[in-house]
Amino acid sequence: MAEFVLPKGSRPVRGKEHPAPEGVKNPRRFRIYRHDPDQGGNPRIDTYTIDEKDAGPMVLDALIHIKNTIDPTLTFRRSCREGICGSCAMAIDGTNALACIKETKSCRNGVVAVYPLPHRPVVKDLVPDLTALYAQYAAIQPWLKTQTPAPSRERKQPPEERAKLDGLYECILCFSCSTSCPSYWWNEEKFFGPATLLQACRWILDSRDEAAPERLDQLEDPFRLYRCHTILNCTSVCPKGLNPARAIAEIKKMMVERLA
Ligand code: SF4
Ligand code: FES
Repeated sequence: MAEFVLPKGSRPVRGKEHPAPEGVKNPRRFRIYRHDPDQGGNPRIDTYTIDEKDAGPMVLDALIHIKNTIDPTLTFRRSCREGICGSCAMAIDGTNALACIKETKSCRNGVVAVYPLPHRPVVKDLVPDLTALYAQYAAIQPWLKTQTPAPSRERKQPPEERAKLDGLYECILCFSCSTSCPSYWWNEEKFFGPATLLQACRWILDSRDEAAPERLDQLEDPFRLYRCHTILNCTSVCPKGLNPARAIAEIKKMMVERLA
């Protein structure tokens, strides 16, 4: 029987239990992943208790409150706090989500578990290393590629062609989808993953772009595209309500159609 062993030093251990502040009326506990690879040792899970009324309604509000009032060493990314920049993606209550638009009260468990996006190296605490995902995104050349001379004013796009980009252009590159995908976990060096493939679909379908054949050629590969097994985790976690699985199916359809 196969024996699976976690890499040395990867198993989280019980960390510090920060006491609840005095006079807490509406206590809410958070179990938060902590790790500093520069310090070595195993990751640990620290526990914090806050008064829910002292923080705003979102999990990001709670993290900021914890950082400001209990533990300034807690590290996480955030910027827009509007669900637009994608930087606060993390695993909350067992599911990838954007901390700034995830309501604490929507968490199913009394103790809210907060971990970094799964299956990525950790830079520190809740900050994952996304270097490899950005490199794959860059590989699809996510910009308008043209050969015809530029018109004097702009490359026009009829409304019905522009509508084909709906459900694609809204992607904020939070990578919640790719890091929730088992196929990506198993083949992350070769499979482009749902986020990058949804972006590839966005450029292939853009009527102003003139590089669709070469974009499809790049994806005609046993791993880059075809490692998608339609598991659909990507679609169920996308915080923007997008459907990367459908975008991947669209690319596969275009692959078949160009053979006809
Ligand atoms: S498709 Fe959704 S989950 Fe994936 S990167 Fe874009 S916004 Fe994030
Ligand atoms: S802080 Fe920008 S998406 Fe959450």
